[in-house]
Amino acid sequence: MIKTILPEFVVAVDVFTDPPETTLFPEEESAISHADEKRRQEFSTTRACAHDALRKLGMRPGPVLPGLRGEPQWPPGVVGSITHCAGYRGAVLGVSSKVTTIGIDAEPNDPLVHGVLDAISLPEERESLSRLAARHPRVHWDRLLFSAKESVYKAWFPLTKRWIDFEDILVNIDPSNGQFSAWLRVTGPRVRGQRLTAFSGRWMVDAGLILTAIVVPVPRRSAPVRPAAPRQGARPATPVRR
Ligand SMILES: CC(C)(COP(=O)(O)OP(=O)(O)OC[C@H]1O[C@@H](n2cnc3c(N)ncnc32)[C@H](O)[C@@H]1OP(=O)(O)O)[C@@H](O)C(=O)NCCC(=O)NCCS
Repeated sequence: MIKTILPEFVVAVDVFTDPPETTLFPEEESAISHADEKRRQEFSTTRACAHDALRKLGMRPGPVLPGLRGEPQWPPGVVGSITHCAGYRGAVLGVSSKVTTIGIDAEPNDPLVHGVLDAISLPEERESLSRLAARHPRVHWDRLLFSAKESVYKAWFPLTKRWIDFEDILVNIDPSNGQFSAWLRVTGPRVRGQRLTAFSGRWMVDAGLILTAIVVPVPRRSAPVRPAAPRQGARPATPVRR
């Protein structure tokens, strides 16, 4: 499903249920040896997705272990991102010659728990969410904003190895074309000598889920760091399906 909002030069594998059996590498088994059943399932299914995605890239699958700050550790030459929520697991990967970083996030299309919005948003974002909610009440825009910021964090972290606060990102969601921009209110990393000041992402709502994705292509030497164009032939500007 997430393919819809990705450029064609990355690969995606996503599923809606946990298969009865998955084969993990021994290192992956030991990484979750003390985990509860829920964690075991989400970890195992996303590893199966990641292994399939590595095969799609033409690579031999290997263990995908969490790093010290939880970031998935990919084989050399690969960048990617993982997400899981109730009813969804996904992995999106690209090769580092084409892709600088990836961040994906899945959330239920449900409102945030009371009080969370204030903690994760800026006043101007809340104003914009109110306008969006009035026009498109079936989308839980507060959750979409949260998801967009989670995707930013997952794309940001591999480049910086640093935390970023919710208030350090200003997200603007475009309801007409399924895109969003995330302006960095802190100094961004340099990518091939060019300062990254914002991420551009895409979003969709379908099957009770909100999906967001950021794919930053490797910039051409003289070109600014720009968002990836949507996949050719992707469903056009109707991201909200009911
Ligand atoms: C890490 C975090 C982003 C995960 O998001 P989530 O919505 O809770 O959970 P998801 O299922 O979508 O994503 C989990 C996956 O994120 C990935 N992830 C975890 N830490 C990561 C990091 N530092 N960098 C990149 N990816 C990371 C992992 O692959 C993880 O799955 P795994 O443990 O099975 O490997 C979130 O828990 C978190 O810590 N957020 C706080 C950071 C933040 O959001 N700051 C403000 C942003 S503006």
